[in-house]
Amino acid sequence: MTILALETSCDETSAAVVRDGIVRSNVVSSQVRLHAEYGGVVPELAAREHLKNLLPVARAALAEANVSPADLDAVAATQGPGLPTALLIGFKAAQSFAFALRKPFFGINHHEAHLFSPWITGDPPKADFKGFQPHVSLIVSGGHTMLVHVESETKHRVLGSTLDDAAGECFDKVGKMLGLPYPAGPEIDRLARSANHAYPRFPKPLIHEKNDDFSFSGLKTSVRYFLRDHPEILDDRQELCNLCAGLQETIVDVLNSKTFRAADRLGLRCVTVSGGVACNSGLRDRFLAANKLGWTVRFAENRFCTDNAAMIGILAERKLIHGAAPAAVDDEIKPGWVLA
Ligand code: KG4
Ligand code: ZN
Repeated sequence: MTILALETSCDETSAAVVRDGIVRSNVVSSQVRLHAEYGGVVPELAAREHLKNLLPVARAALAEANVSPADLDAVAATQGPGLPTALLIGFKAAQSFAFALRKPFFGINHHEAHLFSPWITGDPPKADFKGFQPHVSLIVSGGHTMLVHVESETKHRVLGSTLDDAAGECFDKVGKMLGLPYPAGPEIDRLARSANHAYPRFPKPLIHEKNDDFSFSGLKTSVRYFLRDHPEILDDRQELCNLCAGLQETIVDVLNSKTFRAADRLGLRCVTVSGGVACNSGLRDRFLAANKLGWTVRFAENRFCTDNAAMIGILAERKLIHGAAPAAVDDEIKPGWVLA
């Protein structure tokens, strides 16, 4: 089975070819530099960039996989959630492509696809579900922070999500206050590594609440007050590193506690993590330490943490294998599509 998948839900234009569970190509064109000037993603600009980049990216994915359109068995694209104007570009292009080729079309839920990314490993990357067991999956990025109970490949239930800002959004907004370039997550991660132990502590939002929800907007406000009271920090590199470590430690601690507590409550011993923030070294170290305590913790590889079409193609192929009905060719995008 050969599938072309497109992903344009936010600021990455991506196309991938998946054949029999193997990612034959996964081309990603990131718009991060374009949006950096504005300190965040500008939807209208994102849409224009997708429009400009989509066909070259799709052609490159087909060429790299050595596949021609006639070889395709199906076409898939992200249907939601995401920025409406951005989603439209990839979704409508994929539908037109499927229509022209007389092939089935699959509209994919972006969050559901993230659940599959920790299972894509190796070279060439392959979907490998051999070690699959029921687990709790943390999806953590600039746009989402959610915990999902994954009972089987096709059965999952959202346990909780952020009530306001996503964890990545918190990294990015605090980074802006610190004068760091957008997106600030990777730079805060880097600076935090040079901290000494005198780093500031912040309240850990919802850490003791008996639910699986998150909230990070109050943390951003705590840092704002801290900076108001200690403005000299911005001119002292060591203090800046310490502040980054304090922020990172707070976010990691909340994510770690709530994820493992949810798994414990459900009697599960497996946890997976994906999304851009899953690239964070502090988060990885903390979560992976649980492997020594009898847990199975799996992270998506960095290239499959951030938005990519490979995970869209892998999920579309699983849907085909499990006999899911293709979408109507005039189906619409679902920008607010909530995972069941
Ligand atoms: O999944 P992703 O590429 O896209 C969207 O959410 O749209 O995630 C991007 C987010 C940004 O907020 C970025 O700051 C964060 O992931 N991020 C990180 C790291 N690398 C990326 N946050 C903390 N530490 C990192 N190493
Ligand atoms: Zn995503």
